[in-house]
Amino acid sequence: MKILVVGSGGREHAIAYRLSLDETPHEIYCAPGNAGTAEIARNIAIGAEDVAGIAGWAAAEKPDLVVVGPEAPLVKGLADELAKHGIAAFGPVADGARMEGSKKFAKQIMDAAGVPTAHARTFTDAAAAKAALAEFGLPVVIKADGLAAGKGVVVAETQAEAEAALDDMLVANKFGAAGAEVLVEEFLDGEECSILAMTDGERAMLLPASQDHKRIFDGDKGPNTGGMGAYSPAPVVTDEMLPEIKERIILPVVRELGKRGITYRGILYAGLMITPPGGKLAKSGSRINVVEFNARFGDPETEAVLPRLTGNFAAALLATARGRLDESALGVDSRAAATVILASAGYPGAYAKGKAISGLAEAAATGALVFHCGTRNGANGLETAGGRVLAVTGMGATLREAVDNAYAGVGKISFDGMTYRKDIAHKGLAR
Ligand SMILES: Nc1ncnc2c1ncn2[C@@H]1O[C@H](COP(=O)(O)OP(=O)(O)O)[C@@H](O)[C@H]1O
Ligand SMILES: [Mg+2]
Repeated sequence: MKILVVGSGGREHAIAYRLSLDETPHEIYCAPGNAGTAEIARNIAIGAEDVAGIAGWAAAEKPDLVVVGPEAPLVKGLADELAKHGIAAFGPVADGARMEGSKKFAKQIMDAAGVPTAHARTFTDAAAAKAALAEFGLPVVIKADGLAAGKGVVVAETQAEAEAALDDMLVANKFGAAGAEVLVEEFLDGEECSILAMTDGERAMLLPASQDHKRIFDGDKGPNTGGMGAYSPAPVVTDEMLPEIKERIILPVVRELGKRGITYRGILYAGLMITPPGGKLAKSGSRINVVEFNARFGDPETEAVLPRLTGNFAAALLATARGRLDESALGVDSRAAATVILASAGYPGAYAKGKAISGLAEAAATGALVFHCGTRNGANGLETAGGRVLAVTGMGATLREAVDNAYAGVGKISFDGMTYRKDIAHKGLAR
């Protein structure tokens, strides 16, 4: 199969890597890719958000399938453009990508479909929003409606923090149009997890559950990042919960979108909050509630989940893109996987680029999988080129072994300013 993967991060390297494991060889391209994808695919110099450029390349090159990594090109309508050229796209049309692009839209779909989620109200006026805060109690969650690079959500512990967040978004326009409308939302008590569901607009298949680590420091401290690590399976999600998540969350959303003329094909990623026994139940009355949806594979969840999938990955993606998902097409390796992100000093704030990276061959020799997130081939050979630089995945018979194997790989790698969390999977290991 001839396949184009759109994007340039660890997620896209993991997608290309997993495609390369299929028994039948593929011709894989990445736009634009990175130094890691260059080893297993052909990088083409078109930016991931250059919808016209990618559609033009696809119209000329006629790939069998385009797999879209990041949300931005989906929200901009890349899948719609590819459809015009008769090219199969794994990733929803722009109307479907609104499940990620607008938190208000996602709430409307969930409310219409009866999907358990945090109770919320939307506002454009700061005074009206402040007046409504009392209804929600504390803590309360303030969210910008649109895409805000992971910075548009404030979990406010005090009334003053909540009011400041509302002023930032609605008065000071901190997030521009993305924050012109806000949601004031009920705080959900519990532990988060990620469910990546593959759907063709009718059927759905849940990929194994995972959990990521948003904060920069050990113990889940410090500012939010794009994600500092992940592991799968996530034991907070028990086997009994999976059918419930599929039947009460994923399929109702897909069907509600279908009713509105939106055929959603690709990954519907549900960020869930699981409330423990004894924890404070949400208004919905459910122990499993949706925190948000994303319209694509998670990063770094993908680097932990995809290495666990067995079967013909490309065929499963293509069948999904064509509306013929076979729910038993992929199997799951019983081994656990853990992924540690190696970041540049200073991330998620300002950081330097161009630092030479060494030890990747030694890391690979330990059996760890090394995915490139922000790298390039430069004056120093392989160099850092982003805040998140590498994702190192270990596999093992137990989660403990997977974590140890990931850190054994990490121990071989170095670059100036390399930082990483030492406690990846701590919640899973504690269970
Ligand atoms: N209703 C909620 N209750 C508790 N925590 C929440 C709630 N909504 C969001 N959060 C926290 O804020 C984080 C970011 O919110 P999310 O809706 O996932 O937005 P985004 O990923 O677009 O920034 C979540 O991962 C979660 O930790
Ligand atoms: Mg999120």
